[in-house]
Amino acid sequence: MVQPPTPPENRLVHADALAFARGLPPGSVDLAYLDPPFFTGRTLKGRGVQAFADHWDGDIDAYLAWLEPLLAALRESLTPTGSIYVHLDWHAVHYAKVLMDRIFGYDSFLNEVVWLYGLGGSSNRRWPRKHDNLLWYARDPGRHWFEAARIPATSQRMRGQMKKAPDWWEIPALNNMAHERTGYPTQKPLALLDRIVRSSCPPRGLVVDPCCGSGTTAVAAHAAGRSFVVGDCAEEAVTVTRTRLDGLEIPFVETLHGERAELS
Ligand SMILES: C[S@@+](CC[C@H](N)C(=O)[O-])C[C@H]1O[C@@H](n2cnc3c(N)ncnc32)[C@H](O)[C@@H]1O
Repeated sequence: MVQPPTPPENRLVHADALAFARGLPPGSVDLAYLDPPFFTGRTLKGRGVQAFADHWDGDIDAYLAWLEPLLAALRESLTPTGSIYVHLDWHAVHYAKVLMDRIFGYDSFLNEVVWLYGLGGSSNRRWPRKHDNLLWYARDPGRHWFEAARIPATSQRMRGQMKKAPDWWEIPALNNMAHERTGYPTQKPLALLDRIVRSSCPPRGLVVDPCCGSGTTAVAAHAAGRSFVVGDCAEEAVTVTRTRLDGLEIPFVETLHGERAELS
């Protein structure tokens, strides 16, 4: 009798993103989500949680030189139906678009998803910045897996019905009182990762995140019935993710720094 394939083991890896990505078996990943430092020039601090640095001496070339091999390695890791979301904002998204067109091919670009998060500061000198940009590319644009998310329709004509979500998503950022808040800086809401995972990774597929921070991608993948391999170079991120996964009784294996993130 033919046995169904066993899903890969969930993993948390303490590693640099490039080593992480290069350790993934080629053609094994259904969905990659990359939420790297945004080229803000800032040190990011959370409540009671240590910071991570996003300093590149103002040099966009240094930032892109870091990003390029990482994106190339992630592309190699994708299955023929796989895809990748790269989560950025105005600081570097346009440079990253050009870089990704080169690495993935201009025709492999699927969407720029705009995440409208609402919270944040105001300004009298310009329009307040209230969105991030997610660049979505396919390994092969003719074959990528996709199941559109549905949201309640608001027009008079379709009142009470559901419609396909467009390429802009109104999902509130986490407020200080949010139950899912870990205190890790730049933590993304589960609702955002839930939409990405369910729409772009097949059921029981594999999701990877090389800059996992507080582990949001892992939690969303598990809740959606997908496997995950996530990593971060910061000790603090690994600790927060470990504590979060343990607290939710999500099974995973932890791989120590320097070991390869091989799946099985
Ligand atoms: C924007 S945060 C990710 C937040 C995460 N999506 C969440 O929901 O909590 C970026 C993360 O990238 C990590 N990072 C920065 N440089 C890295 C590198 N070279 N390798 C691995 N992780 C890195 C930081 O430690 C930080 O946790």
